[in-house]
Amino acid sequence: MQIRHFLSPSDLSEAELDRLLTLASDIEENPDAYAHVCDRKKLATLFYEPSTRTRLSFEAAMQNLGGTVIGFSDASQSSATKGESVSDTIRIISCYADICAMRHPKEGAPMVAAGKSRIPVINAGDGGHQHPTQTLTDLLTIRKLKGRLDHLTIGMCGDLKFGRTVHSLINAMIVYPGVSFVLISPKELRVPDYIRKNVLQDHGIPFEEVTNLEEALPKLDLLYMTRVQRERFFNEEEYIRMKDSYILDRKKMELAPKDMLVMHPLPRVNEISVDVDDDPRAVYFKQVQYGVYARMALIMTLLGLDPKSKLS
Ligand code: NCD
Repeated sequence: MQIRHFLSPSDLSEAELDRLLTLASDIEENPDAYAHVCDRKKLATLFYEPSTRTRLSFEAAMQNLGGTVIGFSDASQSSATKGESVSDTIRIISCYADICAMRHPKEGAPMVAAGKSRIPVINAGDGGHQHPTQTLTDLLTIRKLKGRLDHLTIGMCGDLKFGRTVHSLINAMIVYPGVSFVLISPKELRVPDYIRKNVLQDHGIPFEEVTNLEEALPKLDLLYMTRVQRERFFNEEEYIRMKDSYILDRKKMELAPKDMLVMHPLPRVNEISVDVDDDPRAVYFKQVQYGVYARMALIMTLLGLDPKSKLS
């Protein structure tokens, strides 16, 4: 079987993605049917950058499938401190595990690893670049709670420059008809040029770039809030100036449509006030649960363990 990696949402065709989301829904409905699918399989989690949610979500996903997990959660616990390259590390890990999830502060590190790997490599977030498994989580959440992935006006708000979840989600959504974006950010934190040009403009996707959240709210089907990515700023003062640019609170939610979803990849800092948490439109904690199902479906798909998958 050819090794399949998952480095960017576009590594799966629209049909494969659809199949994966359907599998994730089935896992949600019949978890027991999947409890031994990965018996005797090992997932390695190679996390060179801090993470709670994503790493534990991968661990929970593999354990729910009956598999086991090895790995490290901090570069300081790995041989990277001795100067080992990612390429060498993945050659070693290929001898220990069946599949690996890698998070790295450098853009492209999981792609370099994939080039030398004998096992599927999943990009669990590379610098400010991509975070494709968060995107699977987001797609599953949208499909489940909105009932569709097409004909949506999507607001993305906050740090659109460094927010890798934003880049991956935009990449994934452009294949669905009738999707448009309202990109809400301070001028300094607008989406990178390659997203604006190569992804949005080149595919003829309608979008506007605005700075005012209140004005955008009434027209949105969903609002994707993000935190300002402190760790990617060169300068702390600049971060402090930007960090509270947008705070969604109960008052602002009055301007939003009754069925608008509020999503957030988490962790939240100040950008969503806790008084929004009880609003039925706030689905960021449900999103976390969908993330486990999405990762279970991905692990199965890449290992060729989904009987109906065309990948195997
Ligand atoms: C995101 C990430 O790591 O990019 N978090 C996550 O994986 N759920 C978002 C963030 O850190 O702001």
